Amino acid sequence: MAAKLKYLSHRERKRKFGFSFFESNYQFTSSIIANSERKGIRSDLLQMGEKWVLMKTAQTPTNIAVIKYWGKRDETLILPVNDSISVTLDPAHLCTTTTVAVSPAFQQDRMWLNGKEMSLSGGRYQNCLREIRKRAREVEDKERGIKIEKKDWEKLHLHIASYNNFPTAAGLASSAAGFACLVFALAKLMNVSEDESQLSAIARQGSGSACRSLFGGFVKWIMGKEDDGSDSLAVQLVDEKHWEDLFIIIAVVSSRQKETSSTSGMRESVETSSLLQHRAKEVVPKRTIQMEEAIQNRDFASFAKLACADSNQFHAVCLDTLPPIFYMNDTSHRIISYVEKWNRSEGTPQVAYTFDAGPNAVLIARDRKAAAQLIQRLLFYFPPKSDTDLDSYLLGDKTILKDAGLEGLEDVKALSPPPENGSAQKYPGDVSYFICTRPGKGPILLSNDKLALLDPETGLPK
Ligand code: DP6
Repeated sequence: MAAKLKYLSHRERKRKFGFSFFESNYQFTSSIIANSERKGIRSDLLQMGEKWVLMKTAQTPTNIAVIKYWGKRDETLILPVNDSISVTLDPAHLCTTTTVAVSPAFQQDRMWLNGKEMSLSGGRYQNCLREIRKRAREVEDKERGIKIEKKDWEKLHLHIASYNNFPTAAGLASSAAGFACLVFALAKLMNVSEDESQLSAIARQGSGSACRSLFGGFVKWIMGKEDDGSDSLAVQLVDEKHWEDLFIIIAVVSSRQKETSSTSGMRESVETSSLLQHRAKEVVPKRTIQMEEAIQNRDFASFAKLACADSNQFHAVCLDTLPPIFYMNDTSHRIISYVEKWNRSEGTPQVAYTFDAGPNAVLIARDRKAAAQLIQRLLFYFPPKSDTDLDSYLLGDKTILKDAGLEGLEDVKALSPPPENGSAQKYPGDVSYFICTRPGKGPILLSNDKLALLDPETGLPK
């Protein structure tokens, strides 16, 4: 490989940094050279003297759809049957951090998720890696005297470490944040010039909903018309500052059953549900326009009506699938009924609800006051089990507890039943925990090396 890798000499480096990487890694490097030469790979790169690792770390939010994506017209390229719209959640509470690294010493592409090594052999990972490698450009780190030419990228291997700041198994769209972060971080490492929308079309090939995590605020995934998927990408409708009043409370609902994955669920719906065809052709196109208007005008009443209707129709499509798919459970249904009753009693919606492919409720409150009243209601019906304290029962933005006058469990116990509902029955333990968050910003690059998940010398997880 004729890579032009320019280095500072060891003496120069010693003068600059006080040590030479060659000295500090001599043993490691020489054993890799020996190994590589045995296998006949990249010895020219390695023989140039030393091991280096170049890294980038990014943080990417998750998103929740208010107009749902459900159904593909192309399974490999991941092209949807309808447009969808989502709100990006504040990465301070729900995000993925990913460090990507390249080094001539790496023997293969490797990935670790939450500290555990996982296979990169799946088609979706391979598609994202191939597409991003195709767009890689020359990279030069003058400080460290490293230069990677465009053509070198095809031969260099990558290490990837990813970490979710929320439970991966909780059904909170971890694949959306994960693939978006992978593509964004690799684009930065490889000096890719494509903008966020173009990157979204690559992230889409990892997981459809991932394309919407390339932006903050409210985001639309335009389904596109082309067979090659080139026009199926995400655009930002408004940024996270546009509608700052909104509060989002997620009820992570306890569930024992293993759910059908979105991927297989939507495949079965496409094959068997006539309601899905009607939804994609007749309902979503109009609803998307109305939703865009509601967002632009910060019209909460229309927003809530559309978001609830769309969530309910998506779950109706699941019921219309053969065999039917049940994502919501009794707790989800109870939450819908409480919100509907409360909204009706107020005369105008205070809260919108939406449910993805699982029982968790995502509740969007019109403002801080409505969010405080909502958390009072939620904690009345779904108090923590006796061994759980309030601090670990409500995660994220805890300021809402103060607004609701809830400083501790005693205050939760003293809550009176919401007036709009006849029943005062409580369901302790039916919700695992709540997360309070807001609309949030899009992906960012983290410049603080301490936040990197890979060791800068070995390129292995810290
Ligand atoms: C219900 O993006 O997880 O959350 O494209 O097969 O990876 P794949 O599916 P995925 O589906 C998300 C479905 C949804 C609705 C939505 O996010 O729009």
